[in-house]
Amino acid sequence: MSQMEDNLLLIPGPTNLSPRVRQVMAGPQLPHVGSTFYAMFKETVSLARYVFKNQKGVQYVYTGSGTIGMESSVVSLVSHGDRTLTVSTGYFGHRMLMLNQVHGAQADHLEMTDGRACDPDTLRKGLRNAKYTAVFITHVDTSSSVINPVDELVEECNKAGVLSVVDSVCAIGGVPLDFDRLGADIVFTASQKALAGAPGAVLLAVSQRAIEHMEKRKAQIESYYMNLLKWKPIMDDPRMYLATPATQVLLALREAMLELKEEGLENRWARHTRLGELTRSMVERWGQKFVAEEGHRANTVTSFWVDKQNAGEIQGTLEKEHGIMIARGIYDDRDRMLRIGHFGILPVDTLHSALEKMGGVMKELGAVPGDVKVARPAKKR
Ligand SMILES: Cc1ncc(COP(=O)(O)O)c(C=O)c1O
Repeated sequence: MSQMEDNLLLIPGPTNLSPRVRQVMAGPQLPHVGSTFYAMFKETVSLARYVFKNQKGVQYVYTGSGTIGMESSVVSLVSHGDRTLTVSTGYFGHRMLMLNQVHGAQADHLEMTDGRACDPDTLRKGLRNAKYTAVFITHVDTSSSVINPVDELVEECNKAGVLSVVDSVCAIGGVPLDFDRLGADIVFTASQKALAGAPGAVLLAVSQRAIEHMEKRKAQIESYYMNLLKWKPIMDDPRMYLATPATQVLLALREAMLELKEEGLENRWARHTRLGELTRSMVERWGQKFVAEEGHRANTVTSFWVDKQNAGEIQGTLEKEHGIMIARGIYDDRDRMLRIGHFGILPVDTLHSALEKMGGVMKELGAVPGDVKVARPAKKR
């Protein structure tokens, strides 16, 4: 096994793969035609329904990175000149706004700064500014680690009669989400985060109302690969061809979701709660400041400011000395922010010992004022 594979990935995606997932990826090339693929694909879609709690809507799985999920939602719902509202709580909200602009929307921006989440009142007021076609909300923004109260925000959209899209790339599998109860029009995620698959697949749950909106729109959907109406029949009948899927990525995703189902979705959420609590308690002991405001800190990723602005040094030392990979802030925040991804198959004890090592490195490099010992993780609840 190479050094790279031995590293513990505590970056906010991709995450470590289980032995079972690695094994299926190493098998012979699976062609996208033939009964083995058809059966595997159908099972993958059905597992995705379990993960999203989606029995009412259409379930999609196809290959492409998470950004394909973002752009498919925009291009399929929004026509040139439509007004849209993007709620952003970090870098990925900005990307969503940009995609709306790229596809010709009159794109308004409801930007939350300083680690704040969007509260329902703020959105309600924002929705009064125009007649919007759709609102785009990031569930957990992987840059800031802010988690939005999506249930309440989607409720506001529904009250206002506006379509809603939730980017749950850094949430689903690690954070409670029930598509049928939520009432959003599109919720999407990607394979490489809390689901613990390999990068390269997107999964979307789409409401019947959103499908009708796409079917009735006057202007055609200006994309081939990201056109949700084109993918829809393939979800029911994978014998039809639109484009060659990355079959090994789908095999990995199916295996990862089978493992998730064996653990149980609710147990998975509970383990992520413990991972989040443990990380936050350690960051507090290190005396560092969270990026996200209290009460809106995600259980899948934790971002914090590094007083000494030596994020690169901490990251490099941790990797070199302990084989533990963490992430720095994005762009301007590279030196002053660190991000720890804690999702997927990660055991609480493994995270605990990695954080102990990280505390040691931070102390060695002068980034921690006091003692960094943290209590043993709480027993499974
Ligand atoms: C919240 C969120 N949305 C979208 C994306 C884009 O996914 P990808 O990098 O797989 O294209 C990411 C990636 O980290 C993300 O964290």
